[in-house]
Amino acid sequence: MTDLDRQVISDWLDTRAFGRNIEVHETIGSTNKRARDLALAGAPNGTVVVADEQVDGRGRRGRSWLSPKGTGIWMSVVIRPGFEASLAPRITVIAALSVSEAVYVATGCRPSIKWPNDLIMGNKKVCGILTEIKADDSYTDYVIAGIGLNVSTRTDQFPGDLAMSATSIYEETGTLPDRNRLIADILNSFEYMYESLTQPGGFDRLRMQYRDLCLTLGRRVRISGVNEEFEAIAKDISDDCALVVELDDGTKREILSGDVSVRGIAGYI
Ligand code: BTN
Repeated sequence: MTDLDRQVISDWLDTRAFGRNIEVHETIGSTNKRARDLALAGAPNGTVVVADEQVDGRGRRGRSWLSPKGTGIWMSVVIRPGFEASLAPRITVIAALSVSEAVYVATGCRPSIKWPNDLIMGNKKVCGILTEIKADDSYTDYVIAGIGLNVSTRTDQFPGDLAMSATSIYEETGTLPDRNRLIADILNSFEYMYESLTQPGGFDRLRMQYRDLCLTLGRRVRISGVNEEFEAIAKDISDDCALVVELDDGTKREILSGDVSVRGIAGYI
């Protein structure tokens, strides 16, 4: 597999802002942490940090993210949306859509999405997205979209139980896409969708695409929040990107965060 190369990534880019300011590291603690430091120091919209290896990769809910050298795409994008914080979850939606699209272009296989932002191939997780935001009620300073995509990881490289729930593009498709091209393709789609968000009807079209790919919808799910755990049927994605679920007594609830498990997917039996 080719090495990460700043120039090769740039050559494949078709963007105005995303990836035009890019750092490529051989090894780093966490690209999200570096991107946050850059954002705090004033980095422009679309700044990207990519690393060949992370030694302190972060996942959602304080978990760590396995990021061995040369096996995946560990990348964070600094976004400075001109909209209020309540619309920031839309960035997570389009991050997931753009990775799914780029993997499809590279392999002919399209990952599904487990709400809100896990990409699934062969019933296992191939990509996770960690979105971090700095905002107050009316103004979003920045959103960091951190993408962890397993490209060439072999099943026996996932430690312990992770092999039951995690996979890679290679394991699922037998192909080894060029990571430089894949990075550029993700950024190309990501910027295109990001710009559509501000056009009339733009988000509705993207939400439709998301619904089509979202394997959570129509399934019985287990929701684990901070203070409660319950089961329900996943019905829809709301305008603010919440998961709309229906409880057994017919009441509807909107879930904005929390772990949502779908039976048979990513190790949940
Ligand atoms: C999840 O828990 O599903 C989210 C995982 C996100 C991992 C990516 S890898 C690049 C970026 N840097 C990090 O430290 N985390 C994200």
